[in-house]
Amino acid sequence: MGITNTQAGTRIDEIAERIYRISTPVREIPGGLTFNQYLVAADQPLLFHTGPRKMITLVEQAISSVIDVKDLQFIAFSHYECDECGSMDQLLRIAPNAVPLCGQVGAMVNGECFDKSPHALSHGETLSLGSHRVRWFDTPHLPHAWDCGYLMEEKTGTLLCGDLFTQGGVDLPPLTSSDILESSEAFRMQIDYYSQTKNVRSLMAPLAAANPTTLACMHGSAWQGSSGGKLLSALAESLDR
Ligand SMILES: [Fe+2]
Ligand SMILES: [Fe+2]
Repeated sequence: MGITNTQAGTRIDEIAERIYRISTPVREIPGGLTFNQYLVAADQPLLFHTGPRKMITLVEQAISSVIDVKDLQFIAFSHYECDECGSMDQLLRIAPNAVPLCGQVGAMVNGECFDKSPHALSHGETLSLGSHRVRWFDTPHLPHAWDCGYLMEEKTGTLLCGDLFTQGGVDLPPLTSSDILESSEAFRMQIDYYSQTKNVRSLMAPLAAANPTTLACMHGSAWQGSSGGKLLSALAESLDR
């Protein structure tokens, strides 16, 4: 655990049982930003987000510190963007048994972009990984992209929450119990990456009801605490003001 590439500063940390946050700082972005991928090292291992194409070697190195990359079974993503799934085809070549995993909309509108057709999950559908189990939530346009959705790992109560709670900066701890709403809202005020969906509250409600105890953020620290549901509701309130 720890640094897996000294030059890039890529590191890997276990943030819940057998769930690992891979994080690379990007200092060229004003204020700095981390790009995180999450490895669920289950019996059938799943990677949530590939990182952009130029990070493929860094992500591969980090995965290799926990499992054989060839053992990956699922490469999941929230929505179609470079940092979410940019190196999908490269990873599919390294992990020939893996399949892309996303929601029904993602498979319908972007599935053809990959060398292998995605396995599509419906809203609320679960997928067993043996030792772990994930459930898909559709969240169209929250924070952006029609195909947007998230996975909840139900054994550990970890919500792989993608771009929600994006925090700027590169010197953040891998895991925090401190408030992340204020810093993520400050970041949103600088970069308006949210769509203007009017359905924020109804889309957020099922995520809040799942009451995750770990929020696996794609940019910034992961968060851990007993009131993940409350935090998600507070974000919905802030977005819907
Ligand atoms: Fe995004
Ligand atoms: Fe992102």
